[in-house]
Formats: sequence, C-alpha cells, structure tokens
Amino acid sequence: DVEVYKYYSDGEWKKSSSGKSVAIINPTTRKTQYKVQACTQEEVNKVMDTAKTAQKTWAKTPLWKRAELLHKAAAILKEHKASIAECLVKEIAKPAKDAVTEVVRSGDLVSYCAEEGVRILGEGKFLVSDSFPGNERTKYCLTSKIPLGVVLAIPPFNYPVNLAVSKIAPALIAGNSLVLKPPTQGAVSALHMVHCFHLAGFPKGLISCVTGKGSEIGDFLTMHPGVNCISFTGGDTGIAISKKAGMIPLQMELGGKDACIVLEDADLDLVAANIIKGGFSYSGQRCTAVKVVLAMESVADALVEKVKARVAKLIVGPPENDSDITPVVSESSANFIEGLVMDAKQKGATFCQEYKREGNLIWPLLLDNVRPDMRIAWEEPFGPVLPVIRINSVEEGIHHCNASNFGLQGCVFTKDVNKAILISDAMETGTVQINSAPARGPDHFPFQGIKDSGIGSQGITNSINMMTKVKTTVINLP
Ligand code: G3P
Repeated sequence: DVEVYKYYSDGEWKKSSSGKSVAIINPTTRKTQYKVQACTQEEVNKVMDTAKTAQKTWAKTPLWKRAELLHKAAAILKEHKASIAECLVKEIAKPAKDAVTEVVRSGDLVSYCAEEGVRILGEGKFLVSDSFPGNERTKYCLTSKIPLGVVLAIPPFNYPVNLAVSKIAPALIAGNSLVLKPPTQGAVSALHMVHCFHLAGFPKGLISCVTGKGSEIGDFLTMHPGVNCISFTGGDTGIAISKKAGMIPLQMELGGKDACIVLEDADLDLVAANIIKGGFSYSGQRCTAVKVVLAMESVADALVEKVKARVAKLIVGPPENDSDITPVVSESSANFIEGLVMDAKQKGATFCQEYKREGNLIWPLLLDNVRPDMRIAWEEPFGPVLPVIRINSVEEGIHHCNASNFGLQGCVFTKDVNKAILISDAMETGTVQINSAPARGPDHFPFQGIKDSGIGSQGITNSINMMTKVKTTVINLP
C-alpha cells in the first residue's frame, strides 16, 4: 500500500479530516508513487488563523534571529539532499544529478536570502521636509520596511523545492508567515523540504503546507481574506488568480516562449551547445527553456546540422540513470506535446529526427522550417520538442519575438556586442541573454516577465522588497 503523507499545520504533521487523498503518479512508471492529504477548506481556514497569529510574534523577532534560523534550515536542507532528490526523481522524473543540484541550489538560496535580508531590511531612510517647496525644516520622516502579513506561495511542478524556497525564504526573513500549496507532482519533495524548516525550529504556525486538489482548495486559498500576498509560479492558472485575487501584492511568473535569435556572425558551436542546454535540459520543462530558434537563413543549414549531431548524443531514458531526456510530467502533457508535433507535421515542418514516444517519454525532436501558421511557432510545448524558424532579417526575428503573448526571456547570438544590445533593447522580454541560453539564475539576479509571462520581478533582493511595505513615522517639530 502507498503511504499517505501528512500535511503540515501549526507545527505538526496531520491527517486531513476529509479522509481523502490525492495520488502522485510517477511519470516514468505511470503508477501511483505517493499519496498526499486532500485538505479541506476548514483546514485551510485553520492554517490561515495560525499563520496570522504566528506572524505577529515573528515580526517582532529580531532580524538577526530570523536570519539565524534560515541559515540553520539551509544547512539541514543540504544535509537532506539525497532523500529529497530521490523524491524529485520519482515525482517529477527530474534526472538524478539535476535533482541534487536543485536541493543544493535551494540551500544556497535560503542562506543568501538571510544575508541579503539582514542588510537591506537593516536599513531605512531619513528625510527632511525643507527640500520640498514651501516647507520649513520642521518634519523628520523615518522610513523602514515592514512585513505584509501572510504570504501564500504556490510553486510549479518543475522546481517544487527551489521555487518554493525562493518564496519562503524572502517571506520569512522579511517577517511574514508563509502558507505553501505545493504542486501535486512534487508535493512530497516539498513536504520533505518543509520538514527541514520544521527541524530548524521555526515557531509553530509560521510555516504551513496544505496539500490537495486545486478544484477544492485552489480558489479558496488564493481568494482567502487572510492572505496578504501571493507569489505564484506556473502556467495560465496565474492569469486566473490575478483576476480573482483581492487588493494584495502579486508576484507571478508564468509561461514563456523564449526565442533564440542567431545572427550570421554567431559562433555556431556555441549556439548549438546552448540550444541543447536551453531547449532540452529537463526535457524542455522550464519556463526559461529555449522554445523557438530564429536563425538567419544563411547559417540555418549549418546550425541545424550541428544541433542534430548533438541531439543524437542525448541519452533518453529513466531519470534514475541520469538520462538527459526523461519522461514528461504527465500523460496529458505528453498528449499536448504530441498535438503540437502532429499539427506541425500536417503543415509541412521538416522533422530532423523521427518522432518517437513511449508512455510519457518523448524523444528529443528538432523541427526545421517551422512557419508562423503552425501552433508550435507560438505555443509552449513544455517538452523536448524545438521549432526552428528561418528568418531573413534581424527585424523579422524581433517581430516574431514581440508578436508573442509571452515576454519572459530571450537570447541573441552574435559577436557584435553593439548589435546585441540594440536587439536586446528591441526585444519585449524581461531579460535578454547575450551569447547564452535563457536562465533564471544566479538566484539573486532580477527575474521577470512581461505581458502574459508575469507580474513583478523576482530574484532574492526583489522578492524580499516585494514582500514588505514601506512604513513611515514623521516627527513634527514645534
Ligand atoms: O520554469 C521555472 C523557471 O523559473 C526556470 O528556472 O533555473 O531553469 O532557468 P531555471
């Protein structure tokens, strides 16, 4: 029988009163790997109450003490890297080595956040009134940053640990309490991660983790009056959340259709290596994955040959073996990817490899001569399938990139740095990488998307600031 993991509320591990559970399907075996509690709305209410109470005391806890606990949690997280990584392998089919990297990166993120927090929250501002016309020097204004209250964190399946701590650590260092709703695939990894925070000794109720069906507790959580801030990473659900949420700060990282623009003078070996890393790592299931290559016609043949040669070397198989390409997260995801591939086939795209699928495992596929009438030119496969569109001018590439409803990242390959900067300025995306594939990290860099790719900016410093409010006290002199 499969174990049903408990949820975390008021510093304790609990069974839901619903008596129901949600199954987590191993993407590789397609069998139930774990089960988690299907929490009820009443249990969410309880968690919100305890989060509110715990936050009041936490906000008064000295900043250095908050940092100390975060450092402790980071160390414990790293000590548990093997067991958490094992869950990542089984729940989301992340290649074993990458799974360990995710946990270590998360520990580093938590520590960095503690260090950054003590610095930026340890400083305020002092203003005097006579700099504004008509005022005497009779008012002194003191500013500081105060917490928002209860932060709701909703990370996606592809980084259930890292994209959870990237919300948890800034929230906590800033004096907020935190309610986590992990993705179903990845929930057990998240619960293990929460256990590390539990072991570090955070006060009861400060961190909670509720599991369950989105249909039951999703809207209930995001529209809950007790929530003072939402930090969400994922897909279209984020757009729905932003429409329904109350008057609270939102941090949203949604999809992307990151373009890779390749100019005539680019180092094609470097481009090919980055297309492989950017397009196929974790089987393309990253919002920052290269999702469309826009190559100048004059170099496209040579580039496609180089990418093809590297695709042929990718190891396809189970995540336990550290394969490069592993099964995608669910059958419905695999079906969606297949739909995009079939549409491209019907409309005449050139298949650089044979399309092959076994269960949720899809072999890496490069589609050349993709045209704008094909769905894959615009939609996010979130799988190991990459379209190449041949362009005749840089303007054509920029136009394609900007016609997308997404605007997360993009990249441009050229040896001409001046051209690269002009292209970067013209691309309507949150970030442009010059001569490298898109990526969120290092985790202290600002990370943001425009249009349907998100709201606000992340990265450690920006997240800490976003989870605070400015408070001012004005001293009025006689
Ligand atoms: O898909 C989530 C996004 O944050 C990607 O992160 O580190 O793979 O660029 P990364």
